[in-house]
Amino acid sequence: MHEARPERYAHPAFQARCGRSGLHLPRVALGLWHNFGSVDDYGNARAIALRAFDLGVTHFDLANNYGPVPGSAEENFGRMLREDLGAYRDEIIVSTKAGYTMWPGPHGDFGSRKYLLSSLDQSLKRMGLPYVDVFYSHRRDPNTPMEETLGAVAHAVRSGRALYAGVSNYGPEDTRRACAILRELGTPCVLHQPKYSLFERTPESGLLDVVEKEGLGCAVFSPLAQGMLTDRYLRGIPADARAGKAHGYLRPEQVDDARLGKVRALAVIAEERGQPLASMAVAWVLRDRRVTSAIIGASKVAQLEQCVAAASSAPFTSEELRRIDAILAT
Ligand SMILES: NC(=O)c1ccc[n+]([C@@H]2O[C@H](COP(=O)([O-])OP(=O)(O)OC[C@H]3O[C@@H](n4cnc5c(N)ncnc54)[C@H](OP(=O)(O)O)[C@@H]3O)[C@@H](O)[C@H]2O)c1
Repeated sequence: MHEARPERYAHPAFQARCGRSGLHLPRVALGLWHNFGSVDDYGNARAIALRAFDLGVTHFDLANNYGPVPGSAEENFGRMLREDLGAYRDEIIVSTKAGYTMWPGPHGDFGSRKYLLSSLDQSLKRMGLPYVDVFYSHRRDPNTPMEETLGAVAHAVRSGRALYAGVSNYGPEDTRRACAILRELGTPCVLHQPKYSLFERTPESGLLDVVEKEGLGCAVFSPLAQGMLTDRYLRGIPADARAGKAHGYLRPEQVDDARLGKVRALAVIAEERGQPLASMAVAWVLRDRRVTSAIIGASKVAQLEQCVAAASSAPFTSEELRRIDAILAT
């Protein structure tokens, strides 16, 4: 069993209230989408997760399909809970989701009650848990009534399989409706999980306003644009980087000159601020008070540490924010 650092809660401001709920989330959460599957080195994955917990990162974000192979990130995380972190289960927030392709046939994808509830049972089995802390509808299913999809999430909460309900990748209007449905069912939505970064600012056009109005927490994913908003690709594509791996979701053609030009210009501002670009990019999403936390990924302990350091970095001056906007507008 892991002996956690006693100082892990030394910075109380690192834990933030999730919207109007009683749940508290660390300002930086660890996501297990990449680098925690059966294709990855278990010892390295374990080292990242344990270092995260030692730094106060109490939230681990999963989904049924994380791997590869799909499901293996939950299996590996279940092993970490069993062998290392089990004594700390009541300090840890485990989130999982269902909504993207998991198994063949019409009930292994999207938003039916059949899919969501059987998927959650599978997730619990893989992790060896009686419940998760947050269960998300991973995406809006345009062909299934929202009442069915969110009714399944509400049932997960009422039946004790999950403590809190969440939605991910829902647009502003669907989020408003989801909140109304879940409120009506007595299992309020506490958390939204949208994609948000210097390169992906869609949530600024309505979603963050809805999040605030509905009193939701907001845990944003891919704040580093999968590694683009770091120094990772400034000298080509390393073989051990996401864009260099066959199973990586970031493809080499996405690492293009236009984006790299912006990354280089942003890196100048980060250097002037005295921090790595990765830290600045995470700090930038956290500058918006409607953002509760940034869910980062990491393939190395040192990367995780830079991301966590972002939560205590200097606030941005208005001049820095103006220069950043100007770079992104080019
Ligand atoms: N709800 C959804 O639909 C959804 C979708 C996607 C993700 N998510 C969640 O969000 C989590 C994070 O997503 P993400 O992995 O795309 O996040 P990200 O933080 O944007 O990217 C993570 C990658 O950035 C690189 N990196 C991190 N810190 C670095 C540093 N200090 N210096 C240099 N490179 C650094 C690493 O790339 P290398 O691996 O190349 O080293 C790492 O794997 C996922 O694990 C998942 O939990 C949710």
